[in-house]
Amino acid sequence: MKVNELIKEYIEFFKSKKHKEIKNSSLIPENDPTALFISAGMHPLVPYLLGQKHPFGNRLVNVQRCIRTTDIEEVGDDVHLTFFEMLGNWSLGDYFKEDAIKFSFEFLTKVLKLNKNKLAVSCFIGDENAEKDIESAEVWESLGIPKERIKFLGKRDNWWGPAGSTGPCGPDTEMFYWTGKENAPREFNLEDKTWVEIWNDVFMQYNQLKDGSLKELKQKNVDTGMGVERTIMTLNNLKSVFETELFSPLINKIREFSKKDDTKAERIIADHIKASVFILNEKIEPSNLGRGYVLRRLIRRVIRYGNLIGIRKENYLEDLAKVVIDIYKLNYPELKKNEIFILDQLKKEDDRFRKSLNSGLRVFEKEIRKLEEKILSGETAFTLFSSYGFPLEMTIELAKEKNLEVDEENFWEEFKKHQELSRKATKGVFKSGLADNSEVVTQLHTVAHLLLQALRNHIDKNIEQRGSNITAERIRFDFNLDRKLEDDEIKVIENEVNEKIKASLEVKKEEMSVEEAKKKGASGTFEEKYGNVVSVYSIGNYSEEICAGPHVSNTKEIKGKFRIIKQESSGAGIRRIKAVLEK
Ligand code: SER
Repeated sequence: MKVNELIKEYIEFFKSKKHKEIKNSSLIPENDPTALFISAGMHPLVPYLLGQKHPFGNRLVNVQRCIRTTDIEEVGDDVHLTFFEMLGNWSLGDYFKEDAIKFSFEFLTKVLKLNKNKLAVSCFIGDENAEKDIESAEVWESLGIPKERIKFLGKRDNWWGPAGSTGPCGPDTEMFYWTGKENAPREFNLEDKTWVEIWNDVFMQYNQLKDGSLKELKQKNVDTGMGVERTIMTLNNLKSVFETELFSPLINKIREFSKKDDTKAERIIADHIKASVFILNEKIEPSNLGRGYVLRRLIRRVIRYGNLIGIRKENYLEDLAKVVIDIYKLNYPELKKNEIFILDQLKKEDDRFRKSLNSGLRVFEKEIRKLEEKILSGETAFTLFSSYGFPLEMTIELAKEKNLEVDEENFWEEFKKHQELSRKATKGVFKSGLADNSEVVTQLHTVAHLLLQALRNHIDKNIEQRGSNITAERIRFDFNLDRKLEDDEIKVIENEVNEKIKASLEVKKEEMSVEEAKKKGASGTFEEKYGNVVSVYSIGNYSEEICAGPHVSNTKEIKGKFRIIKQESSGAGIRRIKAVLEK
């Protein structure tokens, strides 16, 4: 099936169920100043999900372009993308679980003609705030989905929202399709990636209040999202979204230019150039601020991966952008109107970056030859950033290729120092995406200490940090444990960290010798990194840890709600957690 056929069938199907089609909105949120880009079909609809009357009524349908930068590290696998399109249908206080699931099932099996025997679903298992979603499971059973194919899972997998820190949210039921050639196994297992998630029906039956409690909503909504790329991949028995018509001409062009086969690099280039074209289509220019900085990072990452696979062709960014415009010009005619601007901006950014890229790489090579330890200093990373335009992530990636780490804490210290200077110089306010980033990183540093203490209190008192990596988007935290954390354990940890954030605990720094710090019982596994005098950061009476900082001075400065979004193994006996501060 072709993409446009899928979109048409979806919209026609829901129109036949009395839905009205709404427009595919711009990528820049109109109603949400806290977000840089529209990240889901429901995003432009938040006011209506909260009860405002929608001029088109209470049953809506559309296809929506989206940008998600939270998954950027996963791009390169078979299914994750920065830019994607999402089909969605909404009930604003009209139908609820039963009809939503029946519509989904009918569309999947009757219109798309997917094999019912290859379908599986997940439903919410329930917790102390919200009940187990037996109702959804019963509807699925009544439609012929056997019990072994219906998994009840916790909040991490089967809960969606709120979009901000308060607002409509609720349990969801997700639909998976078996993409293997052979028959699907009797039982559904989420860990087996042959099951691909294609659709998510969210039942927004609660309003989350400031204190985190849930209040039953008067208006119960349905918010569904079906990924176009994944569904097209599944319908055409393809192995990855990059093989679909939305990518294959682009991948072919990249292969025509490159000297080396490297699937991951090709996919990153294809994904990032597409996202860049769509951001440029919003008339955003590359810069060091907010949206412009996201764009700059995407373009510069394309150039670096292009170098890596030996693309020498001049102006190839423009050639690739033309392919993107060609793929989408019928559905997004404004791409054609903005073509000159898009190509011109790509060329300018390419020129700007190329001028400094090679000299920057020489500085990088020279510095790493001098290294005694496996850590590149934050000063060097900052020089590469400020004088050669290397986004921090790029330096981290370059370092990783040489088995090195970057001292990110030190980078942000340098960044702050510099920011202080330029603030003084301009006597103005230097408020940028990057400045915001450095604040978020500082907050996440303190959160990492809270996390370690909570793990020690509730899982095992011998838990130690085995590594961490903090960006403005998330914490990655490794520690010693040889098993998976259970859902209820994760919950306890999250609750404790959030409690401590709310408790306005003072964060204090004291300098002392390593021996004194040990005597005090401060934790810290990387002593050798710090020399003889160490800084010990204490958070109220809750945690004491040797650390180079930077940290907030009071936990009340930490903005957002702490949530663990992923856990995985990271080698024998080491667990890895990824966590975020949800705004
Ligand atoms: N908002 C939900 C999601 O993003 C359903 O559309 O998955």
